[in-house]
Amino acid sequence: MLPQPKSAIANVPFVTHGAADPAELEAWGLDPEEVVDFSVNDNPYGPSPAVTRALASVPAHRYPDREARALRRALSARLGVGPERIVAGNGASELLWLVALGYIRSRDTVMIVGPTFGEYERVARLMGARVQFWRARAETGFAVDPDGVAAVLDTVRPAVVFLCTPNNPTGTLVPTDVIARWARAHPACLFVVDESYFEFAAYRLAGLRSAIELDLDNILVIRSLTKLYGLAGLRLGYAVAPPQVVAVLHRVAPPWHVNAVAQAAGVAALTDEAHVGRSLARVWDACDKFRRGLETLGLAPLPSATHFFLLDVGDGAAWRRRLLRYGLVVRDCASFGLPQYIRLATRREEENERLLATLARERRRAT
Ligand SMILES: Cc1ncc(COP(=O)(O)O)c(C=O)c1O
Repeated sequence: MLPQPKSAIANVPFVTHGAADPAELEAWGLDPEEVVDFSVNDNPYGPSPAVTRALASVPAHRYPDREARALRRALSARLGVGPERIVAGNGASELLWLVALGYIRSRDTVMIVGPTFGEYERVARLMGARVQFWRARAETGFAVDPDGVAAVLDTVRPAVVFLCTPNNPTGTLVPTDVIARWARAHPACLFVVDESYFEFAAYRLAGLRSAIELDLDNILVIRSLTKLYGLAGLRLGYAVAPPQVVAVLHRVAPPWHVNAVAQAAGVAALTDEAHVGRSLARVWDACDKFRRGLETLGLAPLPSATHFFLLDVGDGAAWRRRLLRYGLVVRDCASFGLPQYIRLATRREEENERLLATLARERRRAT
C-alpha cells in the first residue's frame, strides 16, 4: 500500500485566487508586461522607493530574526500596541495557517462569515474541522446581519470564527461594536478578523475603527502588508492579538518563516508613510472616476468601502475570458459562489481608462 495522506485532505478545497496566472498568460500569448491586472487588490503604485533601496543591503547569508523584532517594533510604533501583541507572518495567509495549527482541532466547528476569501475554509478543512457558513445575500447588498450571525453562533458554538472587514470580495464592513458583541457572548471562541484592506477603507471613512482597538482576549486581527505596501512577491503580514495568543502562534510557526528580505522591506515600507498617503489619495481619485466611467457605460458597480468592488455582469467567467483577449484580467467570482459577478480592483487611472475604452468599443461593435 502506498503512503496515504490524512483523511481530512480529501475535504480541502482548491482555492481560486486573483492575480494573472503566468501559465494562462503564456497560453494566450500575452506579454505579462502588457497585461493590466484588475484581479489583484493591491496598491497599483507599488512599493515605496525606500523598499527597493533596503532590499539591496539585506545580508542573504544570515538567518533572519526568528521573531522579526525590528518589524514588530516598527508596527508597534505605528499601531500604538506593544510588540508582545504582534506576530509577523509570511503574508496574511500564513497567519491563517498558524491560527489553524494553534486553535483548530479535528471535528471542531469553524464558522465563516461569507461569501469571502477562500483560504479560511481551506485551513479549517485541513485541520479536519466542520465548516459552518453564514452567507450574506445579494438582495441585502451583501450586508452582514448581526442577529443572523449571532443566531448561528449560538447554535453551532464554533471554536473559531473567520470574518473579513472590509470583506473580499463584497467590500462590506462589519462594525467593531458588532464584533465586540459577538466576541463577548462567546468568550471561548477565537474571532479572527481579517483587516487586510483596513487602510484602504480608513482613508475614505474618517473614524473607521479597527478591531485592534477592542483589545479583547478572544480577538485576533490579521493585516496584510502585501496589498497596501506593494509587497505581494515578498510575502508579509501580521496579526495583533493578546500576548497569550501571540505566544501560541510563535510556538507553532515554522522556524525563520518570515525571510530577511521581507522583514527589511516591511521596516522600510513603514518608514515611508508619505508614499502610502499619496498612493491612497490617487487610488481613491482613480476609483471614483473608474466607477463613474462604468456607470456611464450602463453598468452598476456595487457600493464598496474599499477600492475594489463587484459588478453584476451575468456571466463572470465569460467576461473574464473576453477581457483576457485584450490583456485585461478581471476576477471571475464563481469561486465565491457568485458566478454572475466579476470583481474589479482600481488600478492606475490610465489603466482603468483602458478597460473603460475596451468596454465602450465592444459596446459600439455590438450595436
Ligand atoms: C481577505 C484577504 N486576506 C488575506 C489575503 C492574503 O494576503 P497576503 O498576500 O498578505 O498573504 C488576501 C489576498 O488576496 C485577502 O484578500
